[in-house]
Amino acid sequence: MIAKTAQNILSHSGRKKGNQFHIIELFAGEGGFIAGFNRVGGWHHLFAVELAEKHCNVLREVFPNLSVVKDNVALIDWNSKIKGQVVDCVIGGPPCQPFSVSNNRRNGWHDSRNGIPSFVKAIKNINPKTFLLENVPWLWWGDQKHHIQDLIDDLIAFGYTYTDAAILDATDYGAPCHRRRLFIYGTKQPHHWPVKSHKNNPVAARKYLVPLLEQREPDGEPLPDWVKPKIKGARGDIIIDCKQGNKIGRQYVSMDEPCFTLVATQGIRHRIRYKGKYYRMRAEEAATLQGMDPRCTIEGIGNAVNAWQAEAWAKTIKEYLMKLQADQELS
Ligand SMILES: C[S@@+](CC[C@H](N)C(=O)[O-])C[C@H]1O[C@@H](n2cnc3c(N)ncnc32)[C@H](O)[C@@H]1O
Repeated sequence: MIAKTAQNILSHSGRKKGNQFHIIELFAGEGGFIAGFNRVGGWHHLFAVELAEKHCNVLREVFPNLSVVKDNVALIDWNSKIKGQVVDCVIGGPPCQPFSVSNNRRNGWHDSRNGIPSFVKAIKNINPKTFLLENVPWLWWGDQKHHIQDLIDDLIAFGYTYTDAAILDATDYGAPCHRRRLFIYGTKQPHHWPVKSHKNNPVAARKYLVPLLEQREPDGEPLPDWVKPKIKGARGDIIIDCKQGNKIGRQYVSMDEPCFTLVATQGIRHRIRYKGKYYRMRAEEAATLQGMDPRCTIEGIGNAVNAWQAEAWAKTIKEYLMKLQADQELS
């Protein structure tokens, strides 16, 4: 299938359909953000940009109505693509490998894979009403923080007067697994952040895993000896992180709590002990915990924004845009 160009897509959908808000997604991966935004009515994706063919193929399969642009965000000439079109929101999670603590070969801000400068360049050229940038929390905790602060100051000076950053955990928004991510949210009028609907009542992984486990046979081999001491004392149904290498048996969690953060780097390494039997966690189970389609790959799932968290953002940004629209109609 030939990827549609952003230019074609805009020329075919140049006007808003009904009251839908126009959104562009950069660095789309396999669509965690998109899955969450699709749970909320009123959004129309103009297109989603993703460089890797394998992820583009998953996006096309999972979201057949989505216009997928296979391209390098850094090389897109936004002025000629957008041609002055009003865009309500641009979102994106540039690759986090340059910053991720699970990557031993990270070079931080100056790593050639750092997509954040391309995201900022896109914002300045597209000039959307709002933007949302997502990345790993270490950017805000660690020695890269000054780069993020500079970026925020730069975007405030550009006109996004209300730009700020915070680390949010997906479980606070109803996700059955943890995922702490840095979000940088920018608007030109005052905004609020998503309300933590599940801060005191997190959702158990059991709710989403058990229906899948009940449909299949246990396929987990016996636990390696090095894991057993790590889960000594654990009772009942648990999810075990069986990471190999020098960091072993990192953690386990009761299925009555949210699962730990799923990662992309190690493939499916997790086991589930359910009713005394062991199951190897499959991509569809990991996808369920992330709120994604079972056809996604473990890499796409491990890289994604959790869909419950994305949904909370979709509601919050939509509220902002609706208020903006109402204020404009009144004035
Ligand atoms: C962290 S993942 C994004 C996940 C996505 N936000 C989600 O919710 O599923 C980053 C993605 O950016 C893609 N990517 C990396 N460099 C890119 C570039 N220069 N242009 C477009 N996409 C790129 C990677 O292939 C990867 O799929």
